[in-house]
Amino acid sequence: MTEKKEVANAPEDVHSFAKPTEAVARHLDLDINVNFDEKVISGRATYQIENLAKTDHIIFDTRDLVIEKAYISDSLTETTFEIGKEQKHLGQPLIVAIKPETKSVTIQYKTKPDAAALQWLNPQQTAGKQHPFLFTQSQAILARTWIPIQDSPGIRITYSANVKVPPALLALMSAENPQQKNSTGEYRFFMNQPIPSYLMALAVGDLVFSPIGTSTGIYAEPATIAAAAHEFAELDKMLVAAESLYGRYRWTRYDLLVLPPSFPFGGMENPRLTFVTPTILAKDRSLTSLIAHELAHSWSGNLVTNGTWNDFWLNEGFTVYFERRIMEQLYGKEYADMLEVLGYQDLQHTLEELGPKSEDTRLQLDLEGRDPDEGLTDIAYEKGNFFLRHIEQAVGRERFDLFLNKYFNTFAFKSTNTDRFLEFLRTELIKGDEKLARKINIEGWVFSPGLPKDHLVPASKRFEQVEQAYNSWKNGTPAAQLNTKDWSSHEWLHFIRMLPEPMTTQQMAELDKAFHFTNSGNSEVLAAWFLHAIRNNYTTADQALETFLTNVGRRKFLVPIYKALTATPEGKKKALAIYAKARPNYHAVSTSTLDELLKK
Ligand code: BES
Ligand code: ZN
Repeated sequence: MTEKKEVANAPEDVHSFAKPTEAVARHLDLDINVNFDEKVISGRATYQIENLAKTDHIIFDTRDLVIEKAYISDSLTETTFEIGKEQKHLGQPLIVAIKPETKSVTIQYKTKPDAAALQWLNPQQTAGKQHPFLFTQSQAILARTWIPIQDSPGIRITYSANVKVPPALLALMSAENPQQKNSTGEYRFFMNQPIPSYLMALAVGDLVFSPIGTSTGIYAEPATIAAAAHEFAELDKMLVAAESLYGRYRWTRYDLLVLPPSFPFGGMENPRLTFVTPTILAKDRSLTSLIAHELAHSWSGNLVTNGTWNDFWLNEGFTVYFERRIMEQLYGKEYADMLEVLGYQDLQHTLEELGPKSEDTRLQLDLEGRDPDEGLTDIAYEKGNFFLRHIEQAVGRERFDLFLNKYFNTFAFKSTNTDRFLEFLRTELIKGDEKLARKINIEGWVFSPGLPKDHLVPASKRFEQVEQAYNSWKNGTPAAQLNTKDWSSHEWLHFIRMLPEPMTTQQMAELDKAFHFTNSGNSEVLAAWFLHAIRNNYTTADQALETFLTNVGRRKFLVPIYKALTATPEGKKKALAIYAKARPNYHAVSTSTLDELLKK
């Protein structure tokens, strides 16, 4: 174990075939055509490479790609290549013959229509219903399904791209972006800051741009842009808050792209252009902590990157911590406390699900032999966050912030890993203070399962009022008379999560009549309420549930709902019937999880 690490210094990534210590890509020039009729991306990927070991081959990751030709050097001399054996989850290595002095490699390829990173939407699946739409989701190891690439977060490349799309559509990437369509459908992109492959991103659709500040703005379909501009009007303030905490924003612009509802995640931190689900368009700006989260990734994740998926907590734990600091700065401690309590509930839930002794509840993971997608849980997010909170509490916020600033500056545009972070923690913060080291308890937090006993248990003043209201309802006060004035979606979420199991139809109906949960426009509230509706067989919500499941593709909502449905034979029948209809609307990221869940 230690041996491996020392030799490479770049930790070995068990999810990539590439051998970056031998031959590594530094720059990509992508030249592709997007064909909606055939659902195929085709073209060439030209890499500037460094042949460090003067070897006779360079290895790229591929999965479900058709590799047509390979060339070396700028004069495009055809070369031979070999496609290695398929490995579960990982795809196949593409081994291209090179010379010791080779500086560039070109691969001519095309994708398959069911490439896992790509979701091709027909017009009916968009807000405008007029034009098709395509988007990519490369994290964790799906970039290799649309580009032959050294698909490891420990390897960074700059890139440029020529992308040809139907002239009615706009193309956007995780790069410097156009703000309007042109008549040719040919777009040129530059990303001259080195990024890991999982941040390669492309979206193509009927998109318009609406500025917020001078370096921020929103892309969305025309039908969605006004709602999005209203919802995210405070984006600039978020950016200012983030910069005041951990230093200058390094990626020039920060724009958002609002995707169709089938987007499988809440958000994806593609550099310069965060992709977001439209399910956070709640009208009241109550779900914008998700934007703070994706913005925070501009530091934790995109600037300082987890070197392997085993170190995922370095991306997500830091980002959750940072997200809540941004929200605290903008909306106050009481607001951030609510997020912290909800996060703590999520953590407890995940610990229960995985079991407190599960190896997957350690911060440093061991995902060898598995699809990283399966092992990336709330542990990285929330246990990671609470570990950082714990350190913050031990050394004081001021000192911790200085430390974090230094961390981001020291590792900027680099990939790192758990061991290197811990070394930095020891030399820059603990500095031989044994009492502090014991208090911080690296072993307990990072390498042991479960939660150390002395972890911080968050509390929320605003939630105390929710708990009071809940208790008086339990003691007989009619729901309609509860004091729920000024509750945000967080208070509602807390309230709904507290509701007892089981409830009578009468109770469900009373709550619904008073608070209109079934018809809520807030996706978080809806998703939490549906769980009770399912468990209590509250059929009034059936239609709304089906509509939700057929429109929304966000995995975080789908999985618990389908899971709840499958708890009874009738529910399972319902689930399968809805899934049959809804499945074509879901991205491969969601269907791969749900196929597994529903076949059991
Ligand atoms: N980078 C993640 C999404 C991700 C993680 C995609 C792992 C693929 C593999 C993104 O930043 C994220 O965490 N999104 C969350 C929202 C966040 C507020 C917790 C999501 O999509 O729910
Ligand atoms: Zn994240």
